[in-house]
Amino acid sequence: MDSILVRGGRELHGVIPIAGAKNACLTLMPATLLSDEPLTLTNAPRLSDIKTMTALLQSLGAEVTSLQDGKVLAMSSHDLTTHVADYEIVRKMRASNLVLGPLLARHGHAVVSLPGGCAIGARPMDLHTYGLECLGASIELKDGYLHATAPLGGLRGGVIEFRMPSVGATENVVMAATLAKGTTVIRNAAREPEIVDLVRCLRKMGAEIEGEGSSTITIQGVDRLGGATHQVVTDRIELGTYMLAPAFCGGEVELLGGRIDLVGAFCEKLDAAGVQVEETERGLKVRRKNGRVNAVDVVTEPFPGFPTDLQAQIMALMCTANGTSVLEERIFENRFMHAPELVRMGAKIEVHGGHATVTGVERLRGARVMATDLRASISLILAGLAAEGETVVSRVYHLDRGYERVEDKLGACGALIERVAS
Ligand code: EPZ
Repeated sequence: MDSILVRGGRELHGVIPIAGAKNACLTLMPATLLSDEPLTLTNAPRLSDIKTMTALLQSLGAEVTSLQDGKVLAMSSHDLTTHVADYEIVRKMRASNLVLGPLLARHGHAVVSLPGGCAIGARPMDLHTYGLECLGASIELKDGYLHATAPLGGLRGGVIEFRMPSVGATENVVMAATLAKGTTVIRNAAREPEIVDLVRCLRKMGAEIEGEGSSTITIQGVDRLGGATHQVVTDRIELGTYMLAPAFCGGEVELLGGRIDLVGAFCEKLDAAGVQVEETERGLKVRRKNGRVNAVDVVTEPFPGFPTDLQAQIMALMCTANGTSVLEERIFENRFMHAPELVRMGAKIEVHGGHATVTGVERLRGARVMATDLRASISLILAGLAAEGETVVSRVYHLDRGYERVEDKLGACGALIERVAS
């Protein structure tokens, strides 16, 4: 398992290209199952999660060809060979459950393994099954697999009222509803930009959908969907992550492809923390206004609130902020596992249930730390940029799930960072 070694204390100066969104690509790829015509994605990120989704679609019989060093994915699911999503693949990546809706809609049947727990929480699928049952599906759990069957005449439109917004459940229901007979209305839908991107792609395929990005999405089912070519939207979580980098160690970076509308609530917090964000023709230019950032309080919420996927990163920044900050994690039940690793670097953090209180210290000290999940791993690397001495982050396979070659992107801006094979 590789490690990443970071030597702190160097300012960052340069440009960082932001890739296509992992969490958009992971829902766009299963959309190929809805049509027997080719679906091509451009601006795809080069990540291990994309490779996992590729393997899953291929295991179903879909063709997925990676072109231009992985930035283009040419897909076709003309002849599927099975509708069973195997545990061995699903357990590695929860987003595998996004084949459920498309398989059910186009093929009338889907058998998808429950993903099992993950580091950040139990991550049940009750909202997915509820939503699809509102479209007429019958779903039962057998031997750890969800067995879903559409009615004989296929799925039919329905009204879904989610008790809470769920990104994945909204995506599964939207995809399934495109081929259901009649009208589907989803209330309390998730509003994330990745859902907006999915709807834009489905519309190119011939779907009739309105309201994406709002809490109510309406879908008129159609008989079939065609092919399309779609550019994956910019990754707002990678963007937000690298917007923080100069705030840790000084300097100024320009984030190519960055868009303010993707990181609204996050930018408000950066402004309060004393981080300047300026729109340029190529993206966003970011620098720290003065020597030390201010402590800010954060509550994670569904979009357009502060993203849970940026909570670990801003916690790491608050470790050397001027003052005390309180972070409340409202989306997942166990998403503070980076805290004890940051404490090993000299941070002062107290965790009580869903709240973490961070008292800023002058400097962190480099240490050997362990990545526990995707976003925790990058927060430790960012902390290493600010720390005195050397930080070694182990188990960076977590990192490679969601960040393209971090050492290249940060190294190009002057960071002393390298990947150590072990
Ligand atoms: C998506 O996960 C993202 N993953 C996550 O990003 C992100 O953290 C999350 O949305 C929240 O924004 C992808 O898009 C592939 P949810 P998802 O359903 O869809 C509960 C990353 O780091 N819930 O919106 O699984 C759930 O337990 C990853 O890139 C149910 O109770 O998230 C959680 O507490 C991590 N029942 C809350 O809802 C359900 O049926 C939000 O989950 C589904 C979810």
